[in-house]
Amino acid sequence: MSAKEKKALDNITRRTFIKKLGGGILVVSFAGLTWRMFDQGVFSTGEGPAYEPWDTDKEILESKPLALVSDAILASNPHNTQPWLFKVTDSSIELYADESRNLGAFDPLRREMFIGLGCAIENLMLSAYAHGYEPKLRYKPNSLEPACIARIDLTQSEKDTSPLYKAIPQRHTHRGEYNTDRLVPKTTLRDIENLIKDEKKVNVSWFSSSKEKQNIGDLIVEATEAIIADEEMSAESNKWFKENWKDIQEERDGITLDAQGSSFFIRSMGKILPPMSHESNNQFWLSSTEKVHTATAATYGVISVRDANDNVQRARAGRAWQRIHLHGTNIGLGMQPLNQLNEMADREKKLRIKEHFGNAMKEITGDSAWKGIFIFRCGYPLKETHPSPRRSVDDVIL
Ligand SMILES: Cc1cc2nc3c(=O)[nH]c(=O)nc-3n(C[C@H](O)[C@H](O)[C@H](O)COP(=O)(O)O)c2cc1C
Repeated sequence: MSAKEKKALDNITRRTFIKKLGGGILVVSFAGLTWRMFDQGVFSTGEGPAYEPWDTDKEILESKPLALVSDAILASNPHNTQPWLFKVTDSSIELYADESRNLGAFDPLRREMFIGLGCAIENLMLSAYAHGYEPKLRYKPNSLEPACIARIDLTQSEKDTSPLYKAIPQRHTHRGEYNTDRLVPKTTLRDIENLIKDEKKVNVSWFSSSKEKQNIGDLIVEATEAIIADEEMSAESNKWFKENWKDIQEERDGITLDAQGSSFFIRSMGKILPPMSHESNNQFWLSSTEKVHTATAATYGVISVRDANDNVQRARAGRAWQRIHLHGTNIGLGMQPLNQLNEMADREKKLRIKEHFGNAMKEITGDSAWKGIFIFRCGYPLKETHPSPRRSVDDVIL
């Protein structure tokens, strides 16, 4: 073979090799990508053991009181910490705060924890009627057990399955965009006020004008920035942000990508790419708060009580919130709590520093006899939302 021919053959072999290598890399990376997509649950939204509690087929539970608990654990709760424990007998259920699952610096006065427990009480009560019980609720039944926030005694009665009960497995926090051209009718807001009238010392007020929404929205964004700048609060919040599919399926708690109200593409990219740093998480949160949550709120609701430190009033506020959210679910309203302002107000109180956010909260509520302890936005969502993980009934029984 001449030198010229040898060079030509060399070139062809090199080109073939490079082509093959390229193809090989493509096949391997495609296989790797596909593996990662399955491994990280891109095609399994709402599936797996962590999501089984949403399938409310109660037949599998041995006793009816346990069926009530399986409804209670689907309630709204702060950062999906699920801070509850249940003591169950054939004729009663006691609900306890699980202090080991508190949010630390993020909820220093345990305001959110007790609101979350109230949400579980609301589901317990609706479920009791639906399972043929007459429930008798007592708050703080035992002064020696401060963690026991409620006891419900159950006697047999007629079944009463309310529309609110039916909404329990459909209710999810909606963090996506809402339709900015569609206001929530005043009659709908009045209906919601009437819905919670029987909750003693609890009130809901609405902020729907552009000026009011701008003011509250700006304060929520400012409070989000303050939380991010506070290392302790930010670390506590990030601790509950779960990205890894295996962790989600095993731990069955926390805030997930699927619950962010984003498109399939964005959620998939978030799952496929390496986990985000705390800094990127914070920026994602701030940007969604600014560009989606506050920018597309049709109206804000503020739930107030007479005494913000009273755990029973907090629990009653939680019952009100859960009921409002269930009703919203039935009428196609998206809802999302946005409590950064309250979280910062509590932090200021705990650290005994100047109450900038605390005072802003007082100004929003306007009437010094009412203390605003919970803010949410509502509106008509543009996209669907997805469930958050839940621990099993067995995990929460004492
Ligand atoms: C007291 C309390 C405060 C909450 N604060 C916020 C909040 O500031 N931002 C938010 O997106 N969700 C908030 N949530 C909603 C929870 O994160 C949500 O209920 C939890 O992750 C479970 O998800 P699910 O409601 O879809 O079942 C709050 C809920 C409660 C009860």
